[in-house]
Order: sequence, then structure tokens, then C-alpha cells
Amino acid sequence: MTIQELQTLFISKYGHSHEPLHIYFSPGRINLIGEHTDYNGGYVLPAAISYGTYCCIRKNSIPYIECLSVQIPQHYTILLNDISKKNNLGWANYIIGVYAQFVKKQLQSHNGYQILIYGNVPQGAGLSSSASLEMSVAYAINDIEQYNIPVIELASMCQQAEHEYAGVHCGIMDQFASGMGKKDSAIYLNCKTLDFSYVPIVLDEYNIIITNSNSPHALESSKYNERVNECKQAVKYIQQYYTISQLSEISVNKFKTIEEKIPELYRKRARHVITEIDRTQKAVEALNAGKISLFGNIMNESHNSLQHDYEVTGMYLDTITSVAQSIDGCIGSRMTGGGFGGSTISIVHNSSIQNFITIISTEYHKITGIEANCYIAQISNGTHKII
Ligand code: GLA
Repeated sequence: MTIQELQTLFISKYGHSHEPLHIYFSPGRINLIGEHTDYNGGYVLPAAISYGTYCCIRKNSIPYIECLSVQIPQHYTILLNDISKKNNLGWANYIIGVYAQFVKKQLQSHNGYQILIYGNVPQGAGLSSSASLEMSVAYAINDIEQYNIPVIELASMCQQAEHEYAGVHCGIMDQFASGMGKKDSAIYLNCKTLDFSYVPIVLDEYNIIITNSNSPHALESSKYNERVNECKQAVKYIQQYYTISQLSEISVNKFKTIEEKIPELYRKRARHVITEIDRTQKAVEALNAGKISLFGNIMNESHNSLQHDYEVTGMYLDTITSVAQSIDGCIGSRMTGGGFGGSTISIVHNSSIQNFITIISTEYHKITGIEANCYIAQISNGTHKII
């Protein structure tokens, strides 16, 4: 959909007004490496992509937030002073959840908003469609009301909205990547301190291919929260030997001295997180040194650890990565995002892309009966105003 089409649709739904209409865009993300490390205070390496959410917004003369979506038929109208989470508000809970964070800061507007959302991040693909929706709305309200809240703080507010209104106890990665993304760079983020730097993605003749498994991922959020709790429990076991408050505070070598003393389930969860943080640091070194095939190997190791120790991959993602890893010209492949379905990313040589897509599509369909979709990732800028 073009910006002009969005403007026309907005006016056809809400009518004309003396208030100006603004449009903001916030991207989805891929994560190159550093999976399930953010809520453990570790490193991540995400990058914003060209797919995302458009938030078309105008001040309302009445104290209501009206929410429409281009793709979803339900229309929601929420009174400004009744913004508690409600099961019957569906996707509008993300918007209300974000608005509620401003109210918590005593930033309650007297006017409401008319909002039309258009998203082109494939839903349930593990590419952060919800974070991009939240960030587009937070950025829009912040800009319209001139609250001047820094983007990183908006990301924390959206993370909080996700906890409170979607019930997912996520880390900061997705909202941060959506807000702070930079064209052709990944964000090397320390999730404990929020210190970050941009790492240029220079892959020479290679491209990043996103493959959406289109797999069913029931119970995704409850499984995600289960992992968050298992990590907290693993910290408690480790505290019998070392003083730590998060898994990011113990090195791989120290962990090795005690891992056998920890019950198997928690040992595996902790081992994934601790080694993944180490891999993320090594992956950044490899990227900076232009060692792309080393980077690819580290990606493969990451998937292996997510599959066997963290157990968040599942047969759909495992099928794609194992086929991908066997294709000539593909030097690394792993799941990206929360897992339990969703997408993989693969580093593929320019000359092999067509072959890669053909083999993945055919083999994946043969094994699972489902079609996969492949896209070349375009690494893009973070949240911004369009008009
Ligand atoms: C989801 C969460 C993130 C992060 C990833 C796994 O995308 O929203 O905070 O934990 O899973 O790395």
C-alpha cells in the first residue's frame, strides 16, 4: 500500500478534520545472533528490516482512542480513562498498552486519537510484528504531543506494554531494534546496560535470506514465559556456587566447573544462554574482521544450541536449517527470534540464491506439507516519521 492510499483510506474511514494526519513507520527485525539472551542481561545482534508497521494517526476531538486496521476487520473504540487490559480488545491491547505507559508517566492527553494501522511484517513469523506496532504508536504519540522521550526509553515503555497487555515477559531486543535500527548495520546491544554500537553488515558477495516457515506455533507465549522462568531457576542453582544475579554474569569456563551439579533441564537452559552470549561476542569479532564463513559457522552452532539445549526450534525450523546448511553457497543458517515456529535466516552467496530458494521450497514442502517463503533481507532504519 502506498502512503497516498493510506491517507485516502484514513479519510474514507474517519472523515475530514482540522487536525493534521501523520504517518509513522516502525520496522520489524531479524536477529543475527544472541537468542534468548536479552532477558538474561546478555548481548544480542539484531537488525531492522524493511517490513514493518505504519501508524496513521490524528488527534481526536473526543476523549476516545479509535483503532482500525487495514488487514483486520474489528474496529475498537476505547475511552481514555478506561484503559485497563481487556480480553475483548484483541490487537488494540497493544495500542492501549502503549498509551498506558504514557499515562503512568503522568503524560495523559485530553484529546484521544484516531488510528489506522497497516502492517506488512508477516504475522507469527518471529520478525517482531508486535514490537513494530508498539513502537510505531509510541513514537507517534511522543512526536504529536512533543513529549521528547528518547527512543530508547520508548523501547522500554513498549517492552513494559508487552509484559502487561500481551502477557509476554520479553526482553528489550525487539523494541530496541525496531526503534534504533540503522540501514545496513546490526545493533550490538548489551541488554543489561543498554550500551550499544552499530556493526556494519558487510557480507561481500553474500546476502541474508529470511525463510518464513509458516508453521503453526500454538502456545508460543506460554512456552516463552516458561523459558524466562527456567532461566531464573537456573540462576538460583548457580548461586549456590557463584554470586550472580543473571546468567550473563558467569563465564563459559566458570560455568563448566559446576554444570554437572545442576539438574539437567536447568543445566541445558543455562548452557545455551551462557554459550550464546559468548558466541555473540565472537560473531561480532568475526563480522568486524570480515571473516564471513566463521560468522556462518557460529550461526550454525547457535541453532544447534537452541535446538538441543534451549529446545525452542521445533521440527519446522530444524527442517529448514538442516536443508539450508547442506546447500552449496549457504555458509550459515539459524532460527531467528523467539522460536517455536517463525523464521530462519541464512547467509547465502549471490550466485546460489535462486538454487537455495528452489531447494528450500521443494524439500520443506515435501517433508512438512507447508509452503515456506524466502525473502532477501533489506537492513533498514528504525522508527521514523513519514509525513
Ligand atoms: C522474542 C522476544 C525477545 C527475545 C527473543 C529471543 O522475540 O520478544 O525479547 O527474547 O524472542 O531472542
